[in-house]
Amino acid sequence: MRFFIDTARIEEIREAAGYGFLDGVTTNPSLMAREKVRDTDGHIREICALTSGPVSAEVIATDCDGMVKEGRRLAALAPNVAVKLPLTMPGLAACRILSAEGTAVNATLVFSPVQALLAAKSGAAYVSPFVGRLDETGTDGMRMVEEVLSIFRNYGFTTEVIVASVRHPRHVLRAALAGAHICTIPFAVIRQLAAHPLTDRGLETFLADWKKNSG
Ligand code: E4P
Repeated sequence: MRFFIDTARIEEIREAAGYGFLDGVTTNPSLMAREKVRDTDGHIREICALTSGPVSAEVIATDCDGMVKEGRRLAALAPNVAVKLPLTMPGLAACRILSAEGTAVNATLVFSPVQALLAAKSGAAYVSPFVGRLDETGTDGMRMVEEVLSIFRNYGFTTEVIVASVRHPRHVLRAALAGAHICTIPFAVIRQLAAHPLTDRGLETFLADWKKNSG
């Protein structure tokens, strides 16, 4: 399973790249706003230079023509830009056009398996089911991912599933068990993946025993 980092923070992207856990990046307008980004295009270019993997940049327009225009502009920023389009009817129409031009589209804000099916039929390279936000409504977000994967397998779609809106390591575990292609993970959750209290305790004991023996 590939790891994308779900952030627009340059330092986090650099650090993740340093660990070798960087197969791509996903941004969205909220993540850009959190970093107080003014020059969006420049920021996307900077991120694209830090990874050879896909970097999702989201459109702001909500009508098909506007999304296509913005998508073309974003795609021209770097060869590894993936254009993020919302899963709406105009978004699906724009997805069809941009995908036919060879642009990788990431269909975002996906909350049901049939929405994912529509994105795949519209030629999306990626589909992003939001598991954390769905969990918050009392629905099992990862169940949706499992269903999306079954549908894609049934029909041989090549659209890749990016498990998004990840809140904790269990989402990553279930994504891997389900065979999701990609998980886009906030940096804090990447840290949590490495952490285990028994690892810390075991290390302390090893070092204390070593010291006793050598002291
Ligand atoms: C995915 O590409 C999105 O950026 C992201 O995972 C949104 O998740 P959130 O629910 O943490 O905002």
